[in-house]
Amino acid sequence: MPDAAKPFYLTTPIYYVNDAPHIGHAYTTVAADVITRWHRQRQESVWLLTGVDEHGEKVMRSAQANGVTPQEWVDKLVAEAWLPVQDTLDVRHDDFIRTTEPRHEQAVAKFLNDLHDKGEIYEGAYEGPYCVGCEAYMLPGELLAGSDEYPGQPLCPIHKRPVEMLAEQNYFFKMSAYTDRLLALYEEHPEFVQPASARNEVIGFVKQGLQDLSISRNTFDWGIPIPWDSTHVLYVWFDALLNYMTAIGYGSDEPTARAQFERLWPANVHLVGKDILRFHAVIWPAMLMAAGLPLPGQVFAHGWLLVGGEKMSKTRLTGIAPADIIDTFGSDAYRYYFMRTISFGGDGSFSWEDMTHRYNGELANGFGNLASRVAAMVGKYYGGVLPVAGEAGDLEKGLAAVAAKAVADAEAAMDRLAIHDAIAAVWTLVDAANVYITETQPWQVAKEAGEMDADGHGVAGGRLATSLVTAAEALRSLAVLLNPVTPKAAAGLWELLGAEPVLGALDAQTIASAGQFGTLPPGTVITKGNALFPRLAED
Ligand code: MSP
Repeated sequence: MPDAAKPFYLTTPIYYVNDAPHIGHAYTTVAADVITRWHRQRQESVWLLTGVDEHGEKVMRSAQANGVTPQEWVDKLVAEAWLPVQDTLDVRHDDFIRTTEPRHEQAVAKFLNDLHDKGEIYEGAYEGPYCVGCEAYMLPGELLAGSDEYPGQPLCPIHKRPVEMLAEQNYFFKMSAYTDRLLALYEEHPEFVQPASARNEVIGFVKQGLQDLSISRNTFDWGIPIPWDSTHVLYVWFDALLNYMTAIGYGSDEPTARAQFERLWPANVHLVGKDILRFHAVIWPAMLMAAGLPLPGQVFAHGWLLVGGEKMSKTRLTGIAPADIIDTFGSDAYRYYFMRTISFGGDGSFSWEDMTHRYNGELANGFGNLASRVAAMVGKYYGGVLPVAGEAGDLEKGLAAVAAKAVADAEAAMDRLAIHDAIAAVWTLVDAANVYITETQPWQVAKEAGEMDADGHGVAGGRLATSLVTAAEALRSLAVLLNPVTPKAAAGLWELLGAEPVLGALDAQTIASAGQFGTLPPGTVITKGNALFPRLAED
């Protein structure tokens, strides 16, 4: 368990502002939000950082292609696309960093000066291939031979576009000196790079031996100037990786910002796509080792959303905007779909057919309908007021046991960032509650002698009361467990259950409380409410 005083600090990559966000970017952000909301629900203190990467050649060229300055370009895209998408996705970030902010630029200059003073940086010449799409120096051995589209030209293996040959005078970071220390880190802390496939890839790469890293460019000026030589700008990845510390107060002169850095650093988890694993698992810890700073707890690499077997991207015109899907299905269903259907760490894809199928089957019929049926029966038989239950039998004890196991399994899955497994564990309770209602048949029990009084109201303490109270308990549990995944539906359910006046705010319920039945008191007022997942209009 995390130290109570140290908040759980999780980051997303900062996204290039060369274009608007697509569902590939949203995938990482939603995963980060679900994980941090889960920790918030545990009542831990949490910090979620996200933001944008605004410097570098890639962003500069997009601005040029659009006939505006890079600053105008990023200001417009951040305001019109990157900030609004946080709301579209229903993401609750604690901070949003932009690398053109003074708090970042000043702290980066401090870090560079520190490394320079420590003798970690020297001047040299770089000659070799560079992919602007990756903003990365490439090794000749990792390039692909030309394609039909680009005959005879070496191509970036990710972007499948020609690399550019650079020949520049640059500043270098002595990264090669960290080869052994990095290998020792992966060995002593297997959790540092996860999942295992990512860890193996990184170890294999570093074992080949590291080269020193060129950290400046002098053929363009859209970047942070090297403090001792303003004819160079900092290599965009060196700039970008530092956001994880500059955003929380590293290098600030302000005492409150510095105290925040002390409280939050090191990050618990850097969540990244597998395309940017090496930057985070090799360059970043080497930078921190050079500066003598604590290392993050984990770099977790998830897979890609694929289109036609290739990584979805804007450059290949395969990007879909999150709003294209959310306008039809809503943000809850969107979050649920991507987190439930793709095993976190592996690749996945999106299809309208699959999404529609799961929306109708799992969300509308499985979960939403469960809530409306229970609410309707409490309304019909008890005037919407939860009765006193009778004694729990095997079926009731069985359902309570499913809830306890769902909580234990989901907790364990979330701790290893197996988000899909955590949601599947929660869903065992949705399914078991539906089975419970089918088995107990409250509408039949209501017809049995002694279950209704002379005025046609259900009596307290009978079997009808027991089954409806038990089903309501399952719903209470589900509201808590699904609050991190489908926060709007969970809030709707909490409202429908009338739980807030008797148990307090949904956000204040612990995950552990979801595993214990017998919490909603008799007298709780349950209303029908709106459908949690309205059926989709047929098209
Ligand atoms: N700016 C750098 C990151 C700097 S972090 C210090 C960058 N930006 S990016 O916008 O190109 O991509 C960032 C992340 O977006 C990827 O690592 C990944 O998390 C996510 N994705 C972008 N396309 C994706 C898919 N097709 N599928 C899944 N995630 C993808 O790299």
